[in-house]
Amino acid sequence: MNKDNILEVRHVHKRFTSKNVTVKAVTDVSFEVKAGQTIGIVGESGCGKTTLGRCIVRAYNASEGEVWYRTAAGEELDFLKADKKKMKLIRKEIQMIFQDPYSSLDPRMTVLDIIEEPLKANFPDMPKAKMDELAKDMAAKVGLNPTYLMRYPHAFSGGQRQRIGIARALVINPRIIVCDEAVSALDVSIQAQVINLLCDLQKEMNLTYLFISHDLSVVEHISDRVGVMYLGRMVEYGDTEQIFSHPRHPYTEALLSAVPVADPNYQVERIPLKGEIPNPANPPSGCYFHERCSYCCEQCCTESPAYIEVEPGHYVACHRANELELRGFDYK
Ligand SMILES: Nc1ncnc2c1ncn2[C@@H]1O[C@H](COP(=O)(O)OP(=O)(O)O)[C@@H](O)[C@H]1O
Ligand SMILES: [Mg+2]
Repeated sequence: MNKDNILEVRHVHKRFTSKNVTVKAVTDVSFEVKAGQTIGIVGESGCGKTTLGRCIVRAYNASEGEVWYRTAAGEELDFLKADKKKMKLIRKEIQMIFQDPYSSLDPRMTVLDIIEEPLKANFPDMPKAKMDELAKDMAAKVGLNPTYLMRYPHAFSGGQRQRIGIARALVINPRIIVCDEAVSALDVSIQAQVINLLCDLQKEMNLTYLFISHDLSVVEHISDRVGVMYLGRMVEYGDTEQIFSHPRHPYTEALLSAVPVADPNYQVERIPLKGEIPNPANPPSGCYFHERCSYCCEQCCTESPAYIEVEPGHYVACHRANELELRGFDYK
């Protein structure tokens, strides 16, 4: 592993098979994550973001590939091959926060119990008084009023429930958090509060985030680097500035052209995406994007493009990456 990296995802595939149909939810995804950074993962619904996140935290077993992780103790290991004993030690270092906090919180448990649950699971010998203390400290850090802790989750608003979900993920002091559409269900003003909270906690607790969202405008503000997924593949990966100002993949350009802009003087021509996302059980030949791409050429219909580094740290899977002049999101 590169010494600055906390995570290196290498050639991860995930296939789901049922009734003789195989869905390739994630195909050959590779990227590197530096410690302390936020990586945004974007793409339309169904492109494999959740599946990738779940493979990384090992909630799913990847079909192929490696996820190299540098542990708190400095050891490098392939997370996907770690045995049970090792997993028990490191699983708590990588946590996931979900989209819908309500469905992931047990309605019969008090907020205090919900936040303590991961402590009970990971540190069964910890005295209850210590758990209470850690859970209360964490609740305060995420901005929950201590008098709320004996209440049940239904008594809370969406934003407060998301804070409970965050407290629960962070109480065991993890190092990497996969946030899967963590703010997507919230109103825009509440979204901003929760994002600010996540940024503050990142600095305070030295966290690395994988921030999954279908909404590019959310990802732009918080990410150091961005990965764009299409039909299970990572089609572009680079610094946020590179991706937003100088995209090199036609799919990224089309996504950027559809981001709403508040400035009425700024007019951008939307690049319509032709047709629907193809069925991942029966993906197109060649480049998976070719049927919807306005720059498609003959080679794109038959040959799958390699994922190449077009400038330092900027990766693209497009046959025409070096000749196209694509438009970014440079209204600022
Ligand atoms: N457990 C599963 N079994 C079968 N197919 C699945 C499963 N989970 C996801 N998929 C399929 O994998 C693809 C990617 O899904 P997902 O990772 O949820 O995408 P996203 O999070 O980007 O919306 C979709 O076609 C979806 O239908
Ligand atoms: Mg999802």
